[in-house]
Amino acid sequence: MKRALVTGATGFIGHHLVQRLIAQGADVKCLVRSLTRSADLSQFDVTLVQGDLADGPSLAEAVKDVDVVYHLAGLTKSVSDLDLMQVNGDGARNLAIACAQRTCPPTLVVVSSLAAAGPTLGSDLRVETDAIHPVSKYGRSKRAGELAVIEFADQVPTTIVRPPIVFGEYDRDVLHWFKMLQQLGIHLTPGLRNYYYSVIHADDLVSALILVAENGSRVTGAAEDDAGIYYAACDEVMTYSDLGRLIGDCVGRTRPRVIRAPMFMIWGLALGCDLWGRIRRHPMILNLDKAREAAAGGWACSAAKLRRDTGFVPAMSLEERLRQTADWYLRENWL
Ligand SMILES: NC(=O)c1ccc[n+]([C@@H]2O[C@H](COP(=O)([O-])OP(=O)(O)OC[C@H]3O[C@@H](n4cnc5c(N)ncnc54)[C@H](OP(=O)(O)O)[C@@H]3O)[C@@H](O)[C@H]2O)c1
Repeated sequence: MKRALVTGATGFIGHHLVQRLIAQGADVKCLVRSLTRSADLSQFDVTLVQGDLADGPSLAEAVKDVDVVYHLAGLTKSVSDLDLMQVNGDGARNLAIACAQRTCPPTLVVVSSLAAAGPTLGSDLRVETDAIHPVSKYGRSKRAGELAVIEFADQVPTTIVRPPIVFGEYDRDVLHWFKMLQQLGIHLTPGLRNYYYSVIHADDLVSALILVAENGSRVTGAAEDDAGIYYAACDEVMTYSDLGRLIGDCVGRTRPRVIRAPMFMIWGLALGCDLWGRIRRHPMILNLDKAREAAAGGWACSAAKLRRDTGFVPAMSLEERLRQTADWYLRENWL
């Protein structure tokens, strides 16, 4: 039986990963910052280790006696640029150091982001050999995390997975699209051009993470080498408007109104949300950093390399996954 550590287990994707690992009979440890905020994990037979990505000794304790470390902990948005870099960049480094200090280091699977690589180049899907140019502070912090773990690649067998937007049960971010569509019947689309986007359901991402842990390639640390790096996405790519129409259909709005907002409006809205988030000390889903990403172009990537190396196949179509998510939101009264 594999012994695994999950960081970020109290988060959206972490919940899906822990559930799957337990179902597969793994012995699971979770790094948690607060035992009270970890109440949801009590439904699973897991060992909780209290710690923080900033606290080296707690990480050393957490990585003891495990075969695989799934590193999901991170900030997807923050009102502080410093926090983004400290958690996503320095935090990943601290975890890699803790792994490297073990006599027999565990396999380290790092959940990075498509944002670490940057938007789609031209009309093609982004692939692992494409040049890296993150456009947001979030993206640069995730790239810093990638570079930090790559430094330890000669000591720690490491694989980096870059998902695009992740959706699914327990997610509160993409939930906003579902809510706006169900309650108002509208889908706000940034910009006047039709860019393509990739997405992935959390359960398919979890499959990808477990597959790369078992038989993915590992990063080598050599420049221009794409070994050990994978994009994970569902097969379908869609424009933002079509994604809205599909979600609309899943929540009973067969003809939603797709409202195209010129980028200057998105920037204005993002500025307002950003300021409000800073006043409340709580980041909003739309902020200046997310507007930077929206303005940069398409965000579509290919999972062909992941499929070739590990046999990854999404378990369902995008439409089925969106329906499954909508049904769950409705059942749990999130919608
Ligand atoms: N969701 C997406 O669309 C998406 C897309 C691409 C990549 N990703 C990446 O996937 C990972 C998981 O995302 P998610 O959506 O599941 O995020 P999430 O729901 O916000 O969960 C984040 C997790 O990180 C933990 N965490 C934050 N700061 C920490 C610290 N200093 N030390 C230890 N743990 C810390 C949180 O713990 P607390 O409960 O204590 O706050 C929580 O468990 C992230 O690395 C994110 O960058 C997400």
